[in-house]
Amino acid sequence: MTHTEHPTLTVLDHPLIRHKVSHLRDRRTPKKRFRELAEEIASLMAYEVTRDLPLAQVEVDTPLETTRGWQIRGKKMVVVPILRAGLGMVDGIVRLVPGARVGHVGLYRDEDTLEPVTYYFKIPGEAGGRDFVVVDPMLATGGSAVEAVRLLKDAGAGSVRFMCLVAAPEGVEAMAEAHPDVSVYAAALDRELDERGYIRPGLGDAGDRLFGTR
Ligand code: PRP
Ligand code: URA
Repeated sequence: MTHTEHPTLTVLDHPLIRHKVSHLRDRRTPKKRFRELAEEIASLMAYEVTRDLPLAQVEVDTPLETTRGWQIRGKKMVVVPILRAGLGMVDGIVRLVPGARVGHVGLYRDEDTLEPVTYYFKIPGEAGGRDFVVVDPMLATGGSAVEAVRLLKDAGAGSVRFMCLVAAPEGVEAMAEAHPDVSVYAAALDRELDERGYIRPGLGDAGDRLFGTR
């Protein structure tokens, strides 16, 4: 449902998502389960995020007769993880949308300035006619998401959505200000950012928990 205080935000609060997000937050959840949960939640979210993809009517031959059917219209959707942590959501989405293309945006947050630094950008051609879904588990200050969407728009992307597991109000506001046309989907909207730019209560450092780097 669209959030009353944040018109660009939809919090997907299905009971299964809320249950799984609570396990994801738990500091005792082992890395293997953390990875599985990130994928499972991304799959459940993808079901809603793709709700308004356009359809074209087609004919289908059943064993008995020809009937009317539907297929997703237009160019293949593109999932764009923000490296690294966004990679943890890709398989969950592609499982649901097997024809999706995958682009990559390499960004990291400078730990002192919290500003995003770009180190990689690769997306499929003909960006104008495609639906892009940028994915990153964490929307904190919003710097990385705002920059990733800007890079996609500069490359000619037509429609862009942003999907995260946990959002801070500060990040949602930064996205709404920079990209009011981009819908943001989150599995949870948390209380605040702390002085180090971590989401509270949050789930810690998503990249480190996914890849075991701390
Ligand atoms: C984390 C996270 C987001 C970013 C969010 O990545 O995965 O990309 O921080 O913060 P922001 O909203 O303040 O920009 P990080 O920079 O730690 O890189 P990593 O994915 O390589 O761990
Ligand atoms: N990036 C993370 O991985 N976690 C946070 O809480 C904020 C940014």
